[in-house]
Amino acid sequence: MNIAVLISGAGSNLKALIDACSDGHIDGRVALVLSNRPGVEGLRHADSAGIANRVIDHRAYASREAFDCALVDALAPCKPDLVILAGFMRILTPEFIGPFEGRLLNIHPSLLPKYPGLNTHQRALDAGDAEAGSTVHFVTEELDGGPPVVFARVPIDPGDDADSLARRVQAREHQIYPLAAQWYCSGRLALTNDGARLDGRVLPAGGLDADDYL
Ligand code: GRF
Repeated sequence: MNIAVLISGAGSNLKALIDACSDGHIDGRVALVLSNRPGVEGLRHADSAGIANRVIDHRAYASREAFDCALVDALAPCKPDLVILAGFMRILTPEFIGPFEGRLLNIHPSLLPKYPGLNTHQRALDAGDAEAGSTVHFVTEELDGGPPVVFARVPIDPGDDADSLARRVQAREHQIYPLAAQWYCSGRLALTNDGARLDGRVLPAGGLDADDYL
């Protein structure tokens, strides 16, 4: 399976995916990394692993649609079986989502459907939640609203701030993203008209609890 990963920043999830592929935990290889920002740390992870990478700077395009078409064109030569958004901080339009729907995953740092959008950890803290977390989901045209696949829960400690919480959530992300990618690459995970399915079974509305699988 050819995997393409889109990033905008540190790329710690990208690194977890690269490592899982090279350790044989994912039946696939990261064939291409695209970043919309030049100079980010994630590109160095790709370079160190000898993975082809390119910057497609959104600021060079007049519209979201034009940028998304450039992304589609950049991905075409690698013929990705799976496209993974890993800290990719651009809202995608149907120009991009259409061609890849059903093989497009994102990770969102909340227990979806709670807190779509930004500042998820601060919002969980402000609400007095007992736990935060992260969710891998299929991408559809609804922002952070595609069918969830798997989530990891992280208890909120009394002394937590958004940064300390983000660090613990990210550590779990590095487990659940490779898990979901392997489900997809091994043909167990699919997006159907009824939602996400694993081994043919429709998944619960919030996805599967990673604690049952890790
Ligand atoms: C992750 O926390 C992910 O949930 C969010 O952006 C962050 C990306 O981190 N979408 P990294 O670039 O993978 O380190």
